[in-house]
Amino acid sequence: MEESFFITLEGFEGSGKTTLAEILYKILLKNGLKTVLAKEPGGTIIGDKIRKIVLERGNEELGYKAELLLFAASRAENVRINIKPSLEKGFIVICDRYFDSTTAYQGFGRGIDMSIIECINSFVVEDIIPDLTLFLDVDSQVGLQRATIYNKNLELRFEDEFLQKKEVDGKLFLERVRDGYYQIARQNPDRIKIIDANRDISLLIKDIIEVLNFRLSQKYKKEIILKLPN
Ligand code: TYD
Repeated sequence: MEESFFITLEGFEGSGKTTLAEILYKILLKNGLKTVLAKEPGGTIIGDKIRKIVLERGNEELGYKAELLLFAASRAENVRINIKPSLEKGFIVICDRYFDSTTAYQGFGRGIDMSIIECINSFVVEDIIPDLTLFLDVDSQVGLQRATIYNKNLELRFEDEFLQKKEVDGKLFLERVRDGYYQIARQNPDRIKIIDANRDISLLIKDIIEVLNFRLSQKYKKEIILKLPN
């Protein structure tokens, strides 16, 4: 997997991850780099069905254990069908959410034992670990407001939990997820780059491209300078 590169984007709802993933994808393509865009949960036929089960309103009955295993199942399909084969062909893969989401939401958020989360995560992804994870850090209340305004479809189960101020062990679910992300970032300083996503998108992109230039040059052992669109 010499020329491949695996980038994941993480953050709260409303952090602008999906928009950024698409912009990044276009920039890499324009620079002549073979790139694919992936998303979780979903991205495969089975994964898209799982996405509906875990995210749609009306499925509040879903228990935490089943939720964890469904996210894991969706990821296993995504890795097997999209991510791993693309990396093996030397593509850059950008994935909108990956195993850090499971650690943050199901581990820190839901309070499921971390050793179980780690075991399931590594069973699912094996050696397919991101070269770079961009954690888009946005003020959680702002992000939630944005997500609730723009999300007009049925995928509101998580936003509902945030808005209802659901508590786990005396702490809000939202705060647990946010604190969890910071802990994950602290534990993986080489892989995870925290990006202040409260700023204008053009500034974010400039920052991200700088990080990418550095990391791609490191991995490819030659200087890579990506051109930004005018
Ligand atoms: P999505 O519509 O993809 O939202 P976003 O644009 O915020 O990424 O919804 C994904 C939701 O699922 C989000 O609230 C985070 C949650 N999630 C988990 O709880 N665990 C996981 O492993 C993944 C991938 C997502």
